[in-house]
Amino acid sequence: MTAPSGPLRSIRVTALAAALGLSLAGPLAAAPPEPAQSGSTITPSVPHRPLALANGIRFDGPATAPVQGARNLFVVHCAGCHGFDGAGHPDQGVPDMRGPLGNFLHLPEGRGFLVQVPGANNAGLDDAQIAAVTTWLLSQFSPATTPPGWRPYTAEEVAQWRRQRPADVAARRAEIVSRLKERGISLY
Ligand code: HEC
Repeated sequence: MTAPSGPLRSIRVTALAAALGLSLAGPLAAAPPEPAQSGSTITPSVPHRPLALANGIRFDGPATAPVQGARNLFVVHCAGCHGFDGAGHPDQGVPDMRGPLGNFLHLPEGRGFLVQVPGANNAGLDDAQIAAVTTWLLSQFSPATTPPGWRPYTAEEVAQWRRQRPADVAARRAEIVSRLKERGISLY
């Protein structure tokens, strides 16, 4: 995936939606029905597709319901801080997810950390939704660093990690990063 650049990248979800007259209450990425006739000039009422493409959201992944749902969850609950393309705002403490994130999966506690962060936990999502969106963002933003054969998160696993969330997120992250470094895995 090429990282999008330009002004769209930093626009927050709500501002973007408002500018386009989108309602955030509705399913954002539910595609309007395709026109039946090929070659038709009917234009969808919501130009979400080019918008999403401009922001690096892919439409060429498997079009299964869980993937679609996970992508929607990310757009609605996470992209406001993390950006549509996962670039985040490192200058404001929101890490870039593109590339290094998969390295966390090399350690069980690193795998846990990704579903213990406050952003994911305070969004009002249930365990299955956190499992789906975290699995999705890993395969979307950092496929090069995920260990081969890594398992998708399950709701049961997320429930376990959520019960033992670290009090100090930054300290926990630093601890995991240094353990990874000891194993020769550098995050950045
Ligand atoms: C209010 C802003 C905000 C929102 C919304 C948010 N996050 Fe985050 N996220 C952060 C910040 C800041 C960090 C860095 C760790 C910390 O300080 O919490 C982070 C870190 C992460 C990390 C770990 C990345 C790393 O390199 O350490 C993951 C995974 C993550 N968030 C997932 C999510 C998911 C999934 C959602 C949506 C359900 C989400 N976040 C929503 C701000 C946010």
